[in-house]
Amino acid sequence: CGIVGYIGHRDAYPIIIKGLHRLEYRGYDSAGIALINKDLKVYKKAGKVADLENFVKDINVGGTVGMGHTRWATHGAPSDRNSHPHSSGDRKLTIIHNGIIENYATLKEALQSKGHVFKSDTDTEVLIHLVEDIRNETGLEIEEAVRIALNKVVGAYAIVIMSQDHPDLLIAARKGSPLVIGVGKGEYFIASDATPIVEYTKNVIYLNDNEVAYIRRDDLLVKNIDNTVQIPYIQKLNLQLEALEKGGYDHFMLKEIYEQPRSIRDCMRGRIYPNKGLVQLGGIKEYVEKLKNIDRIIIVACGTSWHAGLVGEYLIEEYARVSVEVEYASEFRYRNPIISEKDLVIAISQSGETADTMAAIELAKEKGATIFGICNVVGASIPRITHAGVYTHAGPEIGVASTKAFTAQVTVLTLMAFYIAQQRGTITQSKLIEYLTELDEVPALVERALKSNDQIKVIAEKFKDAANFLFLGRGSSFPVALEGALKLKEISYIHAEGYPAAEMKHGPIALIDENMPVVFIATKHSSYEKVVSNIQEVKARGGHVIAIVSEGDTIVRDLAEYVIEIPQTGEAFVPLLATIPLQLLSYHIAVMRGCNVDQPRNLAKSVTVE
Ligand code: G6P
Repeated sequence: CGIVGYIGHRDAYPIIIKGLHRLEYRGYDSAGIALINKDLKVYKKAGKVADLENFVKDINVGGTVGMGHTRWATHGAPSDRNSHPHSSGDRKLTIIHNGIIENYATLKEALQSKGHVFKSDTDTEVLIHLVEDIRNETGLEIEEAVRIALNKVVGAYAIVIMSQDHPDLLIAARKGSPLVIGVGKGEYFIASDATPIVEYTKNVIYLNDNEVAYIRRDDLLVKNIDNTVQIPYIQKLNLQLEALEKGGYDHFMLKEIYEQPRSIRDCMRGRIYPNKGLVQLGGIKEYVEKLKNIDRIIIVACGTSWHAGLVGEYLIEEYARVSVEVEYASEFRYRNPIISEKDLVIAISQSGETADTMAAIELAKEKGATIFGICNVVGASIPRITHAGVYTHAGPEIGVASTKAFTAQVTVLTLMAFYIAQQRGTITQSKLIEYLTELDEVPALVERALKSNDQIKVIAEKFKDAANFLFLGRGSSFPVALEGALKLKEISYIHAEGYPAAEMKHGPIALIDENMPVVFIATKHSSYEKVVSNIQEVKARGGHVIAIVSEGDTIVRDLAEYVIEIPQTGEAFVPLLATIPLQLLSYHIAVMRGCNVDQPRNLAKSVTVE
């Protein structure tokens, strides 16, 4: 969910609505706002932020204090009633919340027995009733009541509370879910990330876990929930407004696909020295000795980031000769994994705040492992709880389906594989010079791979009505196939599966008939001939073959119905290039099917619940 708040001298409503649009990637099944304009007013609606705007268009939405919320439903279906803000029984207090209150059922029961009546199915409403209850019972001021209530809550939250009786006060708090405060002149901004804030101020405070902020126009007081006063640290945002706009593209996803030559370059900047055969990763350099002695690497991640992890497994095992396991963070967390101090855990997350990944990190930390993070959002929660890490520097990714963040993650993993290899002496200097020289060329090759766009549109047109798709690849192209299938599923709602090409004959081959498009990654590398045989197996059963091939390929060209060429490159760099046409294919199919590419149904870009 996304949170925005404002207190100052300007009209709050336009700032909040604009902010909610920027945060819509965090969830978009309902939205709501609260404003103080003499009285405390709450407006909320199932649907997108635009539906909320429409709903209030004839209402006076004046006021210089307010807050807003865009939701990704956890407790309670998306409906007007379950939308945030949620108010206390006397309607004098109202709250917006991102996260989950785990002990809400117990709290709710206790409150109900005292006569509290709830209007929604959410965990959030319980928290605001709890604050009201504490006030009624103790007569304490709102500031204290909120702090005491937070001490009774188990779970994760970022909240903002407004009170009818305190029209010049916003109370914000965080534990586990992100919250940023923008510091202006006589005004403050609050948001789940810095994107709603950047156009007003570059001075921000990232609230820490267990901190509560009491925000007035000219005053900010931050306390720990145990009541000790904290000195907030103001930092400068390094974020440009243009990065948050579509810049002439129809969708953020398309813009982000086209940004990849640059984002991959940014990711490598200052980290590779091809002439010297040297990789430098400042973020993990203090762990060089550790890297020499690790027994095993465990990669934890979710979704697209998990696919990047699988590519990382191939690269690290190949070059650094350390055994790697790649785990879904959610699964890792809920068994009793065997981890020791000699293990290195690498957590990969675009947002840096995925709850499943955070929980996996905490568990590995408890067991004494060293944890590295690979994150895109600077200053997010995961980079703060890991021991060390490497940012992907892909810039803000707004399309919900991940594109440039994936290739940046793969780039970092490639760098890490070479870095660890360098430290452990499993790669020669001359090989490193050769590989890094090739890697340095990759952004230009990605640029060339993007030139297939028009041809891919033709393929998309042909297969846009397919009910199923299969994506096949071998070696490090297998995770690329998985990612190709996931992209298509996410944004076009076509059922798609990724499989290792050789596994096809052990099951999925049964699905192949004249209605099944099969996308092969068949570049000229180690298992090329084997993949060619797999292509023949599909053809023999009437399936439609679309193949991603190396430039100049003639063998697959003769077999496949469609081929898409990508530039020749070393095997290690194929994932970075082969991903590009697959992103474009799913993009065009989704557009042709009339789907909302940037905000696919039911998804959210950062999932802060387990
Ligand atoms: C969500 C998104 C996916 C993303 C996954 C992991 O489910 O919809 O696109 O891959 O979370 O996100 P992270 O920010 O941890 O990479």
